[in-house]
Amino acid sequence: PHDSSFSGLRVVVTAGPTREKIDGVRFISNYSSGKMGFAVAREAADRGAKVTLITGPVSLEAPPGIRRIDVQSAREMNEAAESLFSETDIFIGAAAVADYRPAEPIEGKVKKGDSEMEMRLVQNPDILAGFGAQKSARQLAIGFALEEAGGIEHARTKLEAKNLDLIAFNTFNGTDSGFEVDTNILTLIGRGDETVALTKLTKEAAAGKLLDAVERLLPRKAKQ
Ligand code: PMT
Repeated sequence: PHDSSFSGLRVVVTAGPTREKIDGVRFISNYSSGKMGFAVAREAADRGAKVTLITGPVSLEAPPGIRRIDVQSAREMNEAAESLFSETDIFIGAAAVADYRPAEPIEGKVKKGDSEMEMRLVQNPDILAGFGAQKSARQLAIGFALEEAGGIEHARTKLEAKNLDLIAFNTFNGTDSGFEVDTNILTLIGRGDETVALTKLTKEAAAGKLLDAVERLLPRKAKQ
């Protein structure tokens, strides 16, 4: 790791999807591969940070030197994250956390019947908002906002609502941005009016740009 302003900082990154149990053999989830979050974790470690990666089920190897915590559900991810909040300098939420889970997961396997079926969903905790709400002036909360094209204002709303220092507006199109693919197109939005629209980059390069922007927030933080 080269010497940088990240040296010794404790960075927690969430990555991947979560799985919300319907019954013993089924779940609700999404297409997140974990690539973006793993790239952020690797980049932070390369810059000398002490990185903990909390990940949902993905088929990726954690880079060496990173502490990895594997979880399944949003509630498990929340529990793992919350236990680290007080010892986190920078929290980066790259996971695609399920907003809802089945209210009453069923033991065993639900049998096929003759008619329609209804499933009640309840809200999951918002992990990043939880960190944002309790963070001190020295801690940074960084998020992603996965939105449809044109959703930049919605991303700004999330920045405010979750009390974040920076958010990466991320669209998904199935070919070169968003879930699963190796590239991403991000717009970085800070607390002022400053936005940085990045071009299509590999997820590793996008992670580098994101951390460059985080680094610019660091000295200001340290003076507080
Ligand atoms: O994993 P890949 O295949 O590489 O895909 C990368 C990605 C598209 C998943 C990633 O770049 C991305 O955009 N991650 C955020 C996806 C998301 O759930 O966005 P959101 O707008 O719903 O959530 C906003 C922020 O709050 C995110 O930082 C999210 O991690 C966080 N969140 C959301 C809900 C919740 N219950 N807890 C959270 O912490």
